[in-house]
Amino acid sequence: MGSLKSEMNNIETPLVLLHPDQRVGADMARWRKAGGGEALARAVQDPAAVHEEVRISDLRGLGGSGFPVWRKWEMAAPVLPKPDKYLVVNGNEDEPGTFKDRLLLEETPHQVIEGAVVAALAIGANRIVFYINPDIKRPLAAMRSALDQWEGSDLLALASAALGKPLELKLCPGSGHYIGGEETAAMAWIEGGFPFPRGKPPYPAQAGIYGNPTVINNVETLAHVSHIVMRGGAWFKSLGKGAGSGTKLYSLSGDVLHPGVFELPMGTSLRELIFVHGGGLLSGKPLKAVFTGGPSSNLLTPVDLDVALDFESVRARGSSLGTGAMIVVSEGTGIVKRVAEYMRFFAHSSCGQCPSCKTGTATMSRLLDRIDTGHGTTADLNTLKNLCIMLPGSGRCHLVNGAVLLLDSAFRHFHEEFKQALH
Ligand SMILES: Cc1cc2nc3c(=O)[nH]c(=O)nc-3n(C[C@H](O)[C@H](O)[C@H](O)COP(=O)(O)O)c2cc1C
Ligand code: SF4
Repeated sequence: MGSLKSEMNNIETPLVLLHPDQRVGADMARWRKAGGGEALARAVQDPAAVHEEVRISDLRGLGGSGFPVWRKWEMAAPVLPKPDKYLVVNGNEDEPGTFKDRLLLEETPHQVIEGAVVAALAIGANRIVFYINPDIKRPLAAMRSALDQWEGSDLLALASAALGKPLELKLCPGSGHYIGGEETAAMAWIEGGFPFPRGKPPYPAQAGIYGNPTVINNVETLAHVSHIVMRGGAWFKSLGKGAGSGTKLYSLSGDVLHPGVFELPMGTSLRELIFVHGGGLLSGKPLKAVFTGGPSSNLLTPVDLDVALDFESVRARGSSLGTGAMIVVSEGTGIVKRVAEYMRFFAHSSCGQCPSCKTGTATMSRLLDRIDTGHGTTADLNTLKNLCIMLPGSGRCHLVNGAVLLLDSAFRHFHEEFKQALH
């Protein structure tokens, strides 16, 4: 681990995932020279210890849920033995404002692969599927090249020997649909079908790909695993601030001076992220709002600037950390237009299985466009409010809930703007 001194001030921030030793692209020889592969060599000695260190680390699922990783891994211990156990590395990353996994895949593919292999040893998985957004060409190429180098390597042989059967590493480009990132949709695509989400239970850990127990974790989640093995769960936990554990890649975008991906202690404040690392708002304008976690949650506003960006603290503010994406909106930017844009994204992304989601997101999008272009009426606004009451919980997956959360919180914070935009 190293640290990065901010150019804006003297704040030191830990660098784990984005340490220069990891940012070597697909160059396996260089990565190994800097210590790559050592975590795997250690994990084969005692795979059960990996699980325990991950439990101590309080590593959470960084694909949006914040679910404790060790608990998900525990759920994949099958009641009845099955021929295979799968680990899916979820790199579908397709929601507006989230661009951290593609950075890891492109610049640190071996770190991602080693983390996944160590996780596979810990849960006894013999098939790993690297499931990646097909439209992110450079990350996909880096992963393809890195995986080619793992094939036939001593590292893969070591892992297979420890597992007692061949460990298969497979690259599976996704469908190009946002909804394909939902875990059951990902499994459907990997099995060869359309990425339709399905109801749960059974959970993937109980009955996943071809009925086999399947663990699905996000790219960033798994990238942390080899570091936890090398330095210990307690070390990882100590990197966070307050209730947070470890480091987090925050995707910062919108009206800020320096947008980008920042690796910071989990629990860094929103204020520090925007004003220290992001350099503040464009043209020094005041902050108006922040769309968090991808735009599928409640908005944060200036009163929330000191919230710690960890799962619990953001939840306590009625929002959600999600993927750690923060889309910043400054005074002078219209909220109605932004919400209308995101609603178009949700309507376009609905897979259409649940009538309420298909028609609900399409209707919300149509009405918001009408209001945004100055043609909306009070009746349109009332219909939108009714949909915010009727739609939550009506879909098989979280997409429709996310769309409603966004709209409902925009109404609560910026109702006047919606009223002023009416015909
Ligand atoms: C509509 C939708 C899209 C999603 N897209 C992604 C994605 O692109 N990548 C991801 O890791 N998780 C995504 N998720 C969350 C996954 O369902 C799942 O919770 C996650 O991959 C589990 O990994 P984690 O426990 O490491 O976070 C999405 C969920 C929903 C409802
Ligand atoms: S809620 Fe929407 S996106 Fe999710 S399964 Fe139903 S129709 Fe598809």
